[in-house]
Amino acid sequence: MSLLSALSIVCGLMLHVCFSRYCVPRKTVPFQNELKLFREEGIFNYSTMLMRDDLGVLLLGAREAIYALDINNISVRKAAVYWRVTKEKQRECTYKGKHAEVECRNYIRTLHKMNDTTMYVCGTNAFSPTCDYMTFANGQLRLEEKQEEGKGKCPFDPFQRYSSLMVGNDLFSATSINFLGSEPVVLRSSNLALRTEFKSSWLSEPNFVYMDFVGESFESPDGDDDKVYLFFSENAMEYDFYSKVAVSRVARVCKGDMGGQRTLQRKWTSFLKARLDCSFPEPSLPPIVQDVFLLKHKNWRKSVFYAVFTPQSSLSQVSAVCAYSVSDIGEIFNEGKFKTPVVVETSHVKWVMYTGEVPVPRPGACINNVARKMGMNRSLDLPDKTLQFIRDRPLMDEAVRPLTGAPLLVKRGPLLTRIVVDCVLALDGQSYDVMFIGTENGYIQKSVNYAGEMFIIEEIQLTENPEPISILRLSSSKGQLYAGSEFGATQMPVSNCSRYESCVDCILARDPYCAWDSSADQCSSVSSLSSSSNEAVQSLKERDVSLCPPPDPVAAVDFTLVPQNNIQLPCQLHSNLAQVHWRFSDRLLHSDSKYYIYSGGLLILSASESDVGLYACDSVEEINGRTYNRTVAAYHLQLYSGPAAGGSSTPGTEVTNSSDSIHSVNTTAPGPGVLIEGPLAPENQSDTGRVTHLEVAVAVLSLLCISLMGVIFWMWNRGHWECFKFVQSSSSSEAKRQSAEYMHIQNRTSEIKLLGPECGRPCSANNNHTAVDFKGNGEHHFTPMANISSLDGLGYINDESEI
Ligand SMILES: *[C@@H]1O[C@H](CO)[C@@H](O)[C@H](O)[C@H]1NC(C)=O
Ligand SMILES: *[C@@H]1O[C@H](CO)[C@@H](O)[C@H](O)[C@H]1NC(C)=O
Ligand SMILES: *[C@@H]1O[C@H](CO)[C@@H](O)[C@H](O)[C@H]1NC(C)=O
Ligand SMILES: *[C@@H]1O[C@H](CO)[C@@H](O)[C@H](O)[C@H]1NC(C)=O
Ligand SMILES: *[C@@H]1O[C@H](CO)[C@@H](O)[C@H](O)[C@H]1NC(C)=O
Ligand SMILES: *[C@@H]1O[C@H](CO)[C@@H](O)[C@H](O)[C@H]1NC(C)=O
Ligand SMILES: *[C@@H]1O[C@H](CO)[C@@H](O)[C@H](O)[C@H]1NC(C)=O
Ligand SMILES: *[C@@H]1O[C@H](CO)[C@@H](O)[C@H](O)[C@H]1NC(C)=O
Ligand SMILES: *[C@@H]1O[C@H](CO)[C@@H](O)[C@H](O)[C@H]1NC(C)=O
Repeated sequence: MSLLSALSIVCGLMLHVCFSRYCVPRKTVPFQNELKLFREEGIFNYSTMLMRDDLGVLLLGAREAIYALDINNISVRKAAVYWRVTKEKQRECTYKGKHAEVECRNYIRTLHKMNDTTMYVCGTNAFSPTCDYMTFANGQLRLEEKQEEGKGKCPFDPFQRYSSLMVGNDLFSATSINFLGSEPVVLRSSNLALRTEFKSSWLSEPNFVYMDFVGESFESPDGDDDKVYLFFSENAMEYDFYSKVAVSRVARVCKGDMGGQRTLQRKWTSFLKARLDCSFPEPSLPPIVQDVFLLKHKNWRKSVFYAVFTPQSSLSQVSAVCAYSVSDIGEIFNEGKFKTPVVVETSHVKWVMYTGEVPVPRPGACINNVARKMGMNRSLDLPDKTLQFIRDRPLMDEAVRPLTGAPLLVKRGPLLTRIVVDCVLALDGQSYDVMFIGTENGYIQKSVNYAGEMFIIEEIQLTENPEPISILRLSSSKGQLYAGSEFGATQMPVSNCSRYESCVDCILARDPYCAWDSSADQCSSVSSLSSSSNEAVQSLKERDVSLCPPPDPVAAVDFTLVPQNNIQLPCQLHSNLAQVHWRFSDRLLHSDSKYYIYSGGLLILSASESDVGLYACDSVEEINGRTYNRTVAAYHLQLYSGPAAGGSSTPGTEVTNSSDSIHSVNTTAPGPGVLIEGPLAPENQSDTGRVTHLEVAVAVLSLLCISLMGVIFWMWNRGHWECFKFVQSSSSSEAKRQSAEYMHIQNRTSEIKLLGPECGRPCSANNNHTAVDFKGNGEHHFTPMANISSLDGLGYINDESEI
């Protein structure tokens, strides 16, 4: 690690947090070897999953392989079946200009349950999508070898996003139906196959992400039909813009649609779409939907779609989660206004609100009591007027607004990729929706929105190396989460309350799964508490730590001071949101030329006799506007009176007395009282790369960083403390293994580099990429772009980068 790159990391981290209030998860849980993992040597792209609670297995689809894994421990492989491309298929594929080892393989993309024993599986099969039936019986996975055409059911291109859904025995799929990937289709494969019209007003270079089913016919007063909802992004048609702009959409079709008689023959008569609104805090191009999860409710009207959005511009590193209620979406489709194309000038088409008369039955509506009263029992009976209207105007005028009018979560940093949501019953009898969100660097962000307040309980590292989470599944009944990435699959429990060792930590974690059980004196899972126990405490919204017994006072550790040496006093906080305050004889210490406060504690540079006394490390966490202050560690510094004097040197104290000995400081277990010899002269900084005690290096580098960036910090005088806080928190998580810490900080390099323009932005006022303000509903303001060429990159999502 060169000095410069080290500086850029440290400085980057500092700037990073100064401008983002919600980006810091309270706790960071580094990769643990205890996680249950599955991978097979030579097999990649573990991106398809089907949970079969009934069979006790998780079916996992990868490249040319399908596994049946024990749903309780995915490390246990029960069966596997391989489905490799034939040499002939691979050759055909390479003749068409595709890469033999990358695209001309069989990527399993579809796994659906058909009945108790049979599943439907499709693979890209060297750009020649093919489907088959598969059984799991007597501990064996078997492909039936009844291969079927997979065109339209599964993409040709393994890098293309797509979605599918099995409803009864009908497969609904949204993908490209041709080799070039240029003909998008939303297809129902059934006795009566139906598809979308191939028109850009229906689908314009879409990127499909999610499909789900809502049983809306249940107790429907208007005799409505069940629906299939589809989420995707596509080129906007409603914006008058000189470059392609993508927008996020929700579309829906009726389950019982049979197409039209003359108009829209074998095409959907109920395909309607609307824009999804999710306003980012900073003005930007419309964000792109990346994944959706339907949190089902007994009453389908209360079901909610949770959607992850990332920016359209690769310059931004902000992601968000917005939620949409099924009934809000239904209202727009059932009662909203339509958009209609009008020709302005010679050939230019503009989409505006349709104000004319809308035919009856309403275009796009399912067959309901209104239609039945008119003698129309099937979509085949619908009049041409209704069908022509919907064929030409599938887009609704109004956008769907998020449930609370604003995102539930906004996060800066590595982009969010996938989401699942669990509904958790807490001790207060209320249910909370806990979001588990995968990121592009292999973390899960476990978050809750407490009545408008965004809160990330913890971030858990699921992959040893930073890899995007490409699939996420939740078994609410088992309390387990399954994640897939290029290199393997991982299982984690929805909660691990034992991570919170004290009552205060358990309360402040605000994890609805966990409560402090004072009878057992531990943080326990709410579901495991016996119902008779009244001893458990939880305070999710108020964070009332007064419910906890007063903590035991911290005993001061004796510690020896050798004049002219550097002294390191360790102190680890339990929360990334807490600030560390060091006190010396009740005077608050700040980082300066003498003291350095860093992730693992306090560094006293070149100690002298005047430094003898009592040091206390306080964790100060702001809670609901109140600060909660607790002493985590205390040290009593005494003067070193030489080995002969004895007595004053305490156990656990290491004394080193030559500069070479820096290298021999035991890095795996730095007990209190590690002394580091000699002042570290700035001009000798590059040497610190060899010092195994990395934190000292970071500390000194950061000091340098501060002086380099003095001007900037002067400008944000008030953000100063927060910056320190982050340097501290960014590595406090890796507390226990110093060597891992080195790795981790290295890993962050790429993140920081990406953050470059983001962090730099507030510094230079003219570095403003905002072109369009899409906030608000359909109202948007265009401001001339200073740099038009920068728009070129904004039009499309790159499929490859987001898988
Ligand atoms: C899960 O299975 C693996 C492989 O058989 C085994 O080593 C591990 O101990 C199991 N874990 C648990 C918690 O049962
Ligand atoms: C399950 O579905 C398959 C394919 O449709 C069919 O061949 C099989 O008989 C069905 N099995 C049962 C038990 O229904
Ligand atoms: C599959 O994994 C390999 C190995 O990491 C990677 O190079 C390739 O891009 C992946 N393919 C897809 C379609 O994700
Ligand atoms: C529609 O169904 C009703 C009752 O099922 C029936 O009486 C009527 O004749 C049907 N109409 C058409 C056009 O099929
Ligand atoms: C829960 O956390 C504790 C403490 O960090 C750890 O020892 C344990 O292995 C974790 N359990 C699981 C199932 O991950
Ligand atoms: C925290 O508590 C200690 C001792 O109780 C006190 O000296 C210190 O000023 C407090 N710090 C804050 C920020 O309240
Ligand atoms: C420190 O110095 C003492 C006396 O000068 C010597 O005996 C001892 O070996 C030295 N320790 C180290 C770790 O170099
Ligand atoms: C560091 O300390 C640990 C345990 O205290 C010991 O096992 C290890 O060998 C030591 N390493 C070095 C390099 O001294
Ligand atoms: C840098 O440190 C080395 C020993 O680690 C020492 O030999 C050298 O003289 C130092 N250089 C300067 C400029 O202080």
